[in-house]
Amino acid sequence: MPWALAGVDLGLNVLEVGPGPGLTTDLLCPVVQRLTAIEIDPRLAESLGSRLRGSNVDVVMGDATAMPFRDAQFSGGVSFTMLHHVPSPQLQDRLLREVWRVLEPGGIFVGSDSLQSWFMRVIHIGDTLVPVNPDTVGTRLEAAGFEVLEVEKNSDAFRFQARRPSLAI
Ligand SMILES: C[S@@+](CC[C@H](N)C(=O)[O-])C[C@H]1O[C@@H](n2cnc3c(N)ncnc32)[C@H](O)[C@@H]1O
Repeated sequence: MPWALAGVDLGLNVLEVGPGPGLTTDLLCPVVQRLTAIEIDPRLAESLGSRLRGSNVDVVMGDATAMPFRDAQFSGGVSFTMLHHVPSPQLQDRLLREVWRVLEPGGIFVGSDSLQSWFMRVIHIGDTLVPVNPDTVGTRLEAAGFEVLEVEKNSDAFRFQARRPSLAI
């Protein structure tokens, strides 16, 4: 997560997609003013929402491929180790378009995910695993409307930084 966030200004009102149990949420919430986390699993959403009640985090139970948020509502967005849990490339692309929609012009979207590996296949037995190819994620982000700032990979993961282009003046 520090790798994905390096040098990034997410602004004051940040969206987190797929917080799961909230390990990443716990690291993000002290460094942003307002955080909204959307989680599709009702049990995880409920437990994270209860744990963070009264904090600067709102947890919303919902599907990030069809988000219940206004256009341009957020100053920045993040997605950590979750895209491979979205069950098809088409739904992953829909999620990217949804993040674009709810970010304000100029808003930054950063993320990271694991590379395909034997280890990933083993730990996902019985679970969704649709790995994202780091060699095509930039094109997919562009197709969703983003300007790609960076895609970088190491031996087991990749990160990206992208921006919803500012409105032309
Ligand atoms: C592996 S966990 C990652 C949790 C956290 N971001 C982290 O890095 O520790 C992925 C999470 O994404 C959630 N998720 C999968 N598809 C989703 C969707 N369409 N909308 C919202 N959350 C989703 C899963 O339920 C799961 O909790």
